[in-house]
Amino acid sequence: MSILRCINCGAQYDISRKYFRCDRCGDLLEVTHKIENYRPAQMKGVWKYKDLIHPDLEEKFIVTRGEGDTFLYEHELISEFTGIKEIRLKHEGENPTGSFKDRGMTVAVSHGKFIGARHTICASTGNTSASASSYSSLAGMKSSVLIPKGKISRVKLIQSMAYGAEIVEVQGDFDKAMENLESLVKQNQYLYTLNSLNPWRLEGQKTIFYEIMDRLKEIDFILVPAGNLGNTSALGKAIADYYELGIISKKPKIAAIQAEGASPFYKMWHNKRDRIEPVAAETVASAIRIGNPVNWKKAIWAINYTEGIVETVSDSEILEAKKIIDKSGIGSEPASAASVAGAKKLREKGIIDKYDRVAAVLTGHVLKDIDNIAGNGPIIDFNTFLDKIKAEF
Ligand code: F0G
Repeated sequence: MSILRCINCGAQYDISRKYFRCDRCGDLLEVTHKIENYRPAQMKGVWKYKDLIHPDLEEKFIVTRGEGDTFLYEHELISEFTGIKEIRLKHEGENPTGSFKDRGMTVAVSHGKFIGARHTICASTGNTSASASSYSSLAGMKSSVLIPKGKISRVKLIQSMAYGAEIVEVQGDFDKAMENLESLVKQNQYLYTLNSLNPWRLEGQKTIFYEIMDRLKEIDFILVPAGNLGNTSALGKAIADYYELGIISKKPKIAAIQAEGASPFYKMWHNKRDRIEPVAAETVASAIRIGNPVNWKKAIWAINYTEGIVETVSDSEILEAKKIIDKSGIGSEPASAASVAGAKKLREKGIIDKYDRVAAVLTGHVLKDIDNIAGNGPIIDFNTFLDKIKAEF
């Protein structure tokens, strides 16, 4: 029922393929399904949508930690901060390893098991590697993770170490690590890539959108932080699925939010260029410190398909939004706060209306990246506390 298809030249490949670039033109592959009678499966979370993400997979191959079914928050502080009455936050930090990556990873690793992968590999700013390490170990596969030396959150690194991955430090940034990975997997096609270059990852990540729509039925905007552009691409595909199946009758606009210092996709979209110009990336939001995003072609399709927008936010806008998300009791890592900072900025520009129905994705947990946390509450000693309590009565 499913095949892999090159997004550029249309070449088709069987789903048993382990290498995810086209042999003819080198471009990205996408998964396409023939969906006839879609109905939700009797499973929870991501796998409830099995017919839309991997209909051919036998259930015995599924490697899962119960990902998905994350909470959708509403909070007065978030509405006040953004100026949008009906803004909801889909908290992907509530997945098993603390980020949205788990949704894609359960599908990619299950697929890997199905096609006989034994050794997984990824390049990462930290969350993909944490998730890939966990799911690979769960499936009994060896995993290697390439990380930019000294440039990922220590907490994320510790996750991969704990789950037993082989940690490979690359001199340079994430883009360098990704470049190394691409040449390595081209030469050694038994290595199974778990980056969002693997189109099965995107199939799993589509379920963020399905879950939001199953709850809210209709929305005007959906915002995501944008780095390697996997999520932006997955959202576009998910919107197309639900629209073509007639489950939704209005396509929400995607707003992909980049950090100012890591915004090659914004520049491409804003200047109406037909390809990405890589940049040297720098931002406090280490998860999205990416200057040469792999999925730009799929992502620009997604933006155009939904008549969406790309926006940038500064590091101080990101940290300001993070403070509010944290103070509201919800909490997120800095990269996630880009979507809320983006909502505020687009509201101020008049692109999003006060009464628009908006969903913003929080991509990672508050404990994921603790290097840049200002904190909202003071720390005091016990005697000062006693004095305060006395004064209160
Ligand atoms: N938010 C967080 C917390 C992330 O970890 C990432 C990407 C993004 C947003 C951006 O998502 O790449 O789909 O546009 N992290 C990757 C990693 C690159 O290696 O963990 P994207």
